[in-house]
Amino acid sequence: MHPLKDQTIIVTGGGGGIGGATCRRLAHEGARIAVLDRNLEAATQVAQGIATAGGQAAAFGCDITDRTSVDAAVAATEARFGPVTVLVNNAGWDVFKPFVKTVPDEWQQLIAINLVGALHMHHAVLPGMAERKKGRIINVASDAARVGSSGEAVYAACKGGLVALSKTLAREHARHGITVNVVCPGPTDTALLAGVAEGAANPEKLLEAFTRAIPLGRLGQPDDLASAIAFFASDDAGFITGQVLSVSGGLTMNG
Ligand SMILES: NC(=O)c1ccc[n+]([C@@H]2O[C@H](COP(=O)([O-])OP(=O)(O)OC[C@H]3O[C@@H](n4cnc5c(N)ncnc54)[C@H](O)[C@@H]3O)[C@@H](O)[C@H]2O)c1
Repeated sequence: MHPLKDQTIIVTGGGGGIGGATCRRLAHEGARIAVLDRNLEAATQVAQGIATAGGQAAAFGCDITDRTSVDAAVAATEARFGPVTVLVNNAGWDVFKPFVKTVPDEWQQLIAINLVGALHMHHAVLPGMAERKKGRIINVASDAARVGSSGEAVYAACKGGLVALSKTLAREHARHGITVNVVCPGPTDTALLAGVAEGAANPEKLLEAFTRAIPLGRLGQPDDLASAIAFFASDDAGFITGQVLSVSGGLTMNG
């Protein structure tokens, strides 16, 4: 069964942990995948893996903080695979430090990647989706946006902004048949989490503490997130918009 056959899907940060798993899952469900990442080598590896498994994917180098780069990657995707029907804004970056120890240059980078990058992506694909009266957008935020997270103040502020942006765009574009939903990972076993742990006084202890705090008793795996993203991209989620789903083993339980 290929429920996502005929979909053209962009995944930003597709060369990373959650992004790579998402690309593979959506390709397995029949979609054509544009793997966008500023790390072209990582994106190419993901696209090649999908092609080897019989799926359709292409890698595009793209820095989402740069609008020219975004427009070029979207144009290249559409030239190769046709109009974008689903956008997964997944690229992200974090610095793990108490807020008072951070410096404005770090804020700028965090905001550029985690918030402005997503603005560029939405702004680039929404007009086409609105014209075609069809589209799905899934934004990868963080539980830090919902409940806060010590050591991630500016990152959490950006992800909170992404949640608010998603709800607003869900309202603005519902009449165009476009849904916008958010998936919030909890601690998930990727390079980003390893980087966060490295910033802690005792990385191993931090990961242990995360694991102990998770009711389902383990860290998230990239495939856990890919499943939720695939659901929001599917026809089954057609009447769901402006929603925020935590995929964190019960770490956060929001009403
Ligand atoms: N891993 C976790 O514990 C965790 C928790 C909460 C939220 N998240 C979110 O999940 C998403 C995926 O993170 P991950 O854990 O897979 O991390 P990751 O580091 O494995 O992947 C992130 C990818 O984004 C890419 N990227 C970064 N800046 C970019 C830019 N300017 N332009 C294009 N690509 C860029 C990186 O090259 C990388 O491939 C992020 O938005 C992250 O904030 C992760």
